[in-house]
Amino acid sequence: MVRSRFLVLLLIGMIAIISHAELPGTWELLVENAGIASMHTAVTRFNTVILLDRTNVQPTLEKLRKHHCQINPQDVVLCHHYSALFDLSTKKIRPLTILTDTLCSAGQFLPDGTLLQTGGDNVGIKKIRKFNPCEATESCDWEELNDIELAQGRWYATNQILPDGTVIIIGGRMTNSVEYFPPRQAGGAINFPFLVEAGDAQFDNLYPYVHLLPNGHLFVFANNKSVLYDYTNNVVLKKYPELEGGPRNYPSAGSSVMLPLIGDYSTATIVICGGTQFGAFNDKITNAPAHSSCGRIVATEEEPVWEMEEMPLGRIMGDMVMLPTGDVLIINGAQAGSQGFEMATKPCLTPVLYRPGEPLGSRFTTLNPGSVPRMYHSTANLLPDGRVLLAGSNPHYYYNFTSEFPTELKLEAFLPEYLSVENEVLRLIIIDSPDTIHYGHGLHIMVTGEIPKLEMLEVNIASAPYATHSFSQGQRLVKLAVSSVEADQSGAFEVKCMAPPDRKVAPPGYYMMFAVHKGAPSVATWVLLMD
Ligand SMILES: *[C@@H]1O[C@H](CO)[C@@H](O)[C@H](O)[C@H]1NC(C)=O
Ligand SMILES: *[C@@H]1O[C@H](CO)[C@@H](O)[C@H](O)[C@H]1NC(C)=O
Repeated sequence: MVRSRFLVLLLIGMIAIISHAELPGTWELLVENAGIASMHTAVTRFNTVILLDRTNVQPTLEKLRKHHCQINPQDVVLCHHYSALFDLSTKKIRPLTILTDTLCSAGQFLPDGTLLQTGGDNVGIKKIRKFNPCEATESCDWEELNDIELAQGRWYATNQILPDGTVIIIGGRMTNSVEYFPPRQAGGAINFPFLVEAGDAQFDNLYPYVHLLPNGHLFVFANNKSVLYDYTNNVVLKKYPELEGGPRNYPSAGSSVMLPLIGDYSTATIVICGGTQFGAFNDKITNAPAHSSCGRIVATEEEPVWEMEEMPLGRIMGDMVMLPTGDVLIINGAQAGSQGFEMATKPCLTPVLYRPGEPLGSRFTTLNPGSVPRMYHSTANLLPDGRVLLAGSNPHYYYNFTSEFPTELKLEAFLPEYLSVENEVLRLIIIDSPDTIHYGHGLHIMVTGEIPKLEMLEVNIASAPYATHSFSQGQRLVKLAVSSVEADQSGAFEVKCMAPPDRKVAPPGYYMMFAVHKGAPSVATWVLLMD
């Protein structure tokens, strides 16, 4: 009897292992203790990753503590915030110095590759900071600007790089306005009444989802409302229908992504997935089930409507990561509760893949689950080798390693199925590519590997977004038009393609350029897109 029960258990265990093994994707532990739970994460063109938190807690690494506990007499709490740089090749962590509070701030890479980072809380609420990245062996650090500050305090705002290379800064708690960096006019902020309309008793208009459409206007989504915003003339050109299924932004947030821009770049589609019911935050209903619904809309159409679809799982605080293939990975988050300290339960360990090109109803695939809960204040970022970096999770006011959902210092990577051993043969290697590419101009890259089939070959450029609070600010993937593939004498292949036509399709700056063959991406090279 005991033996047969043991056998049954063994069998169940084996089935569980097999079924896990059969689900696509694998996990990799990169760093056991990064010394920081990254709340805001961005990948630089030097293949380093900026990790940024706010905290009045004790870093677990003494060397980090030494660096971070700088005394700023203006600050409300000393030793309050910190940042570090993670080198992808050596897996080393280098502490960075930051003085003003970055809690719930915003960011965006400028065309010269500098990360602009704005706002936060307390003395950081109007602060503008820059991080000009360097080679991993060098010692670049944060610069906090003292001669200029934001016109209004920005806590939970969203930044988006614009075609002219400036940045628009939208919203924030009690800040229903927009402003620009560099500032466009004296006085700074411009009222944006849409954010007032989108507010409710628990706000729900924070960290608005902002996407720069290829027509040059902004799609701005807050709560369940969205508009087409002509920021140049400060005019709302269109109000989209409301998205059903409850609020979608902080503190009830799912996530949002703009699907790859392709073809003649005349259309853009937005997908918003997950979130929770109104009241889960205000009434602190930590077991309120998260939504599984997604809305999808062609934002560039005349009178578009939301197409609804269902994820395999409910999820709040999921990150939607645009993969080099144009598929979307939805990862991290929880299945119940809302955003905020101690507000969620039931971590959602199972990522799903969304294939936008498949017919409605068959776009989702359930992937191999992880083991580390990544809930409030966690991030997900695409890396240049096609992996996805996962950092953070700290649903507590202080760092707490003993609570049910502990502060998470592990850095992990999720490897989508395209990185499996079986797919290795498909993955091309870029052996030569230009450092700069120019709007409307042809370019070519040299690749080696399996003979690439033209009709199954893509060259895609991906921005490096600023990931925070389950939304990646400035995330963008543009598929270039590929015109030919030709073998040269050495056995390498020359792939000819065309850079994006203009700055609206892809604002100037650094992008990861991937050659994607039969759905498997190469390692990217960084290219600077400019005039
Ligand atoms: C959008 O949210 C408001 C409350 O903020 C609600 O009254 C309205 O019914 C919602 N719209 C839809 C389509 O669910
Ligand atoms: C950590 O969390 C546990 C359980 O929620 C709690 O009892 C403890 O006081 C917390 N520790 C700190 C340092 O906040």
